[in-house]
Amino acid sequence: NTTTSSAKLARDGFTSSFGVLAATLGSAVGLGNIWKFPYLTGANGGASFLLVYLLATLLVGLPVMISEIMLGRAAKRDAVSSLKILAPAGQPWWLIGAFGVLAAFLIMSFYSEVAAWVFAYVFKAMGGSILSSDPAVTSAAFAALVADPVQSLLWQWGVLLFIGGILLLGVSKGIEAVTKKLMPVLFLLLIVLGVRSLMLPGAAQGLSFLFTPDFSKITAGVVLTAMGLAFFKLSIGMGTMITYGSYFKDDQNIPLTTLRVMGADLFVSMLAGIAIFPAVFSFGFEPAAGPSLVFITIPAVFASMPFGHVFMVLFFVLTAIAATGAMLSILEVPVSVMVGRFGVSRPRAVLFTLLLLAAIGSTCALSGSLLADFKLFGLNMFDLFDEVSSKLIMPAGGIALCLFVGWVWGFDRMRDALSNHGQLQNEGLLRALFFVIRYVTPLLVLLVMLSGLGVF
Ligand code: PHE
Repeated sequence: NTTTSSAKLARDGFTSSFGVLAATLGSAVGLGNIWKFPYLTGANGGASFLLVYLLATLLVGLPVMISEIMLGRAAKRDAVSSLKILAPAGQPWWLIGAFGVLAAFLIMSFYSEVAAWVFAYVFKAMGGSILSSDPAVTSAAFAALVADPVQSLLWQWGVLLFIGGILLLGVSKGIEAVTKKLMPVLFLLLIVLGVRSLMLPGAAQGLSFLFTPDFSKITAGVVLTAMGLAFFKLSIGMGTMITYGSYFKDDQNIPLTTLRVMGADLFVSMLAGIAIFPAVFSFGFEPAAGPSLVFITIPAVFASMPFGHVFMVLFFVLTAIAATGAMLSILEVPVSVMVGRFGVSRPRAVLFTLLLLAAIGSTCALSGSLLADFKLFGLNMFDLFDEVSSKLIMPAGGIALCLFVGWVWGFDRMRDALSNHGQLQNEGLLRALFFVIRYVTPLLVLLVMLSGLGVF
């Protein structure tokens, strides 16, 4: 029966242009914007950090993201197989995909735990138990959650099951359908919160922290942190965008979609900064509070404002939504490799990924309690996985991708792929992009990595 066999062969993918945008933006927007971006900006000097981050996004993020999506769509396969079939036989470029799978597990291990706190806080916010204007109370509440091994594990497993459930539905009926519904809600909630925060008495001070640079704060380590954030934020250097690129429609304008995703992602980070920093200053909190910033500051901030209870629930719901789209895209990397490379059925691949993650991820869930003293290189597993992925694997993946496109794949194939086989014309821009991918980005990333890691 030819119809069923060709239906079996047809690969699942995104079905509409809006779906492509929602899923890709859903991957980029996440805890990176609402949790990581504010606390890194707060701890590393505010506006000067923001400036370096913007430069990294343009000079590194944009070219790498375009390259990844392009390769994925050209090959229409998972992250490992795509590089296998695009590269000349015998060359090990597929290792980019293999390290991507490794990075996906490392990232998801700590990411799912932060998401676990967020999901827990949605319910705590509804119940009102964390609503207190006294930071001592809100920090005690957060410390209690982190130090409770049972709660930490159960919330994490709950999150994993939730994400696994959506992945089981597939690419178009799962990832695309869910992100299409959730992304508009996220933007709406974020705008409401940003406006609310700007109306607070200390708003001006928060904004000046976010927008006045202090260049004395910029060190090699801070530059690497900012670049690592750019990789993490745009979900690049670890195979997610190759995988999603393989689900892109053939007539999708890749550079334009990438620019839109980047712009919207920056907009969300800025809104999150605008929602958080004015409030932080208005209520006299410490902007450099670190990873717990949103969990301690935000409840106290909301407790001090009219209708704070409602706004706090909205805040954690929107953060949970953002985290969901990102987690779907992290897990899709190993799932698609198992399906595409090893012929495992999708349900089995999802199940296997979840089980492995429950095991690896538990080291992060327990790093605030039972495993608090278990350290490698002076870091607990939560911090170690975060640092290794953002400062090593993703930047190294970015370099390798640029070298592959710039020196192996070459300009003609890139022009053909990005112009949708000649339908879109922009020779000048494509040549400039190719130059950046061939020389500028790989060198820049290498220099930042080496100096940031203290090699010179
Ligand atoms: N970009 C996501 C965020 O900012 C995190 C992410 C990293 C998603 C890597 C996919 C791959 O939250």
